[in-house]
Amino acid sequence: MKIATLISGRGTNLQSLIDAEKEGKLSGKIVVVISDNSEAYGLERAKKAFIPIEVLKEEEEISRKLKELGVDLVVLAGFMKILSEEFVKERKNAIINIHPSLLPSFKGLNAQKQAIDYGVRVSGCTTHFVDEGMDTGPIILQKEVEIEKNETVETLSNKILAEEHKMLVKTVELFCNEKLIVEGRKVIIKE
Ligand code: GRF
Repeated sequence: MKIATLISGRGTNLQSLIDAEKEGKLSGKIVVVISDNSEAYGLERAKKAFIPIEVLKEEEEISRKLKELGVDLVVLAGFMKILSEEFVKERKNAIINIHPSLLPSFKGLNAQKQAIDYGVRVSGCTTHFVDEGMDTGPIILQKEVEIEKNETVETLSNKILAEEHKMLVKTVELFCNEKLIVEGRKVIIKE
C-alpha cells in the first residue's frame, strides 16, 4: 500500500508512522509527505527519513500528486486545510484522519480545550474515515483518556497525543491489511 501523509505542523503523528515503518511494523510505505505549510516541522522529520516531501497549497496540486504516485491511502495527521467534497468523494474510504477527542464530541479545532471547558470526565482520540463533513466520517478506533483534577489543556493534550501515536499506527496497519470494511457509517474490523 502506498501512503501519503498530509500535515500542517509539528508532525509527531507522522513520526509514529515513520518509526513504525522503520521498525518493519507497517505493511504500507509512506511515499510522500505533503504539507500546505512550508514551515511545518514534520517536513524535517520526513527529510530525515528520506521520504519525498511536497509543499502544496492548492488542493488540485495535491490531487494531481496523489494520482501521479498511485497513492492508496491518504493519512491526515494534523492537516489543517478542509478538503472539498469532490476530493473526498474521489477517495471514498481511503482517507483517514486522527482527531483528539472521542467523536462525535468536540469536533473541529481545540478539541482538548473544548473537553476541559465542557467539564467531561473522559476524553480521548479517534481515527475515522473522512467524509464530506468535518470530523463526521465512520469511526475506526477510539481510546479514552481520563480527565483528572487540575487537568490543563496541555497535560490533557500530551496524554491524548501518546494514545494518538499508538492508535494511528494500528489504524493504518488495519487499513493496509484490508481489515476495515465500511457498512453505512459503521466500520467492521475483520478478525
Ligand atoms: C493531533 O492532536 C491530531 O489529533 C490533530 O492535530 C494534532 C497534530 O499533531 N488532528 P502532530 O502534528 O501529529 O504532532
